[in-house]
Amino acid sequence: MSTHPVVAVVGATGAVGREMLKTLEQRNFPAREVIPLASSRSAGSRISFKGRELTVQELGSESFKGVDLAVFSAGGSTSEKFAPVAVKSGCVVVDNSNAWRMHDQVPLVVPEVNPEALDSHTGIIANPNCSTIQMVVVLKPLHDVGTIKRVIVSTYQAVSGSGQKAVEELESQVKALFSMQEVVSQVYPHQIAFNCLPHIDVFLENDYTKEEMKMVNETRKIMGDDNIRVSATTVRVPVFFGHSESVNIETEKKITPQQARAILTQAPGVKVLDNPSEKIYPMPLFAAGQDDTFVGRIREDETIDNGLNMWIVADNIRKGAALNTIQIAELLVEKNLLRVP
Ligand code: A2P
Repeated sequence: MSTHPVVAVVGATGAVGREMLKTLEQRNFPAREVIPLASSRSAGSRISFKGRELTVQELGSESFKGVDLAVFSAGGSTSEKFAPVAVKSGCVVVDNSNAWRMHDQVPLVVPEVNPEALDSHTGIIANPNCSTIQMVVVLKPLHDVGTIKRVIVSTYQAVSGSGQKAVEELESQVKALFSMQEVVSQVYPHQIAFNCLPHIDVFLENDYTKEEMKMVNETRKIMGDDNIRVSATTVRVPVFFGHSESVNIETEKKITPQQARAILTQAPGVKVLDNPSEKIYPMPLFAAGQDDTFVGRIREDETIDNGLNMWIVADNIRKGAALNTIQIAELLVEKNLLRVP
């Protein structure tokens, strides 16, 4: 395999796909060629990349011939159908959907947390759920020091996590409300403007949502520790970009807030913003467009012996999706793993 792979971006016209292209460009990923793929709806449209215009092609079973790496963000059913087709053509897939994350043969990777999981890939590598990524980037260094027993998390998730149509829905609802027009909800079951929906993805038999159970199961898989108990409540809020999370952890060994700040200051991909007296703490408005995961409001949970509370914010489209995917791709190149075994 050349160190300059041919890269296909599946879902190139979507919110995450466009950010993937931007990230490939910004990080100067050593691609020999980049091929944007999407549905027939946008085939033929143009996307600019590195000062050139690329033509979007319709995704089909022949799309992966001669392609070394495909990054997918076109929904679970597209990944389910086309990731195996790509692998059969000898192409390595990094998939941003939920389709492959919990498969035993599929590594679920956050480069700052478990890069070694890539070594055993069999063609498909999964990019975790956005809320999980930003949480584990912060929790892993604390787990290494104090062993996390239990996590309680509540999320405040931006609409961009539901795709471009959801961004447009929030925009049009805000405009409609200010011009006394009827509010139309198509992406969400209720009005999202000036509202909070404690409902992300579908409800499951245990009354949790699928998004909440993703946080439970993916956290354990990425951290490589099935003993970590996670309880999640995921909420959609009227924010365009940037997920926020209130996270409470209980550890075996005590970690003081000062120690946690010192540990996290050294952690890759993490930036501590924690000076409440100066009104400094992470906020989604300022995390948007940034690569780092921000953590602040670190304080002791005074109801238990070894507990900490914190507030974690990241750009869900960048670190939560596009950036993490491209970081995985960079690691594949670096480790010479861009081949189907
Ligand atoms: P298209 O623009 O042609 O509909 P988002 O998450 O922002 O909604 O974006 C979803 C992305 O996935 C878009 O690029 C969309 O392409 C693409 N997509 C959705 N369904 C398919 C499909 N069946 N085949 C190929 N691409 C798809």
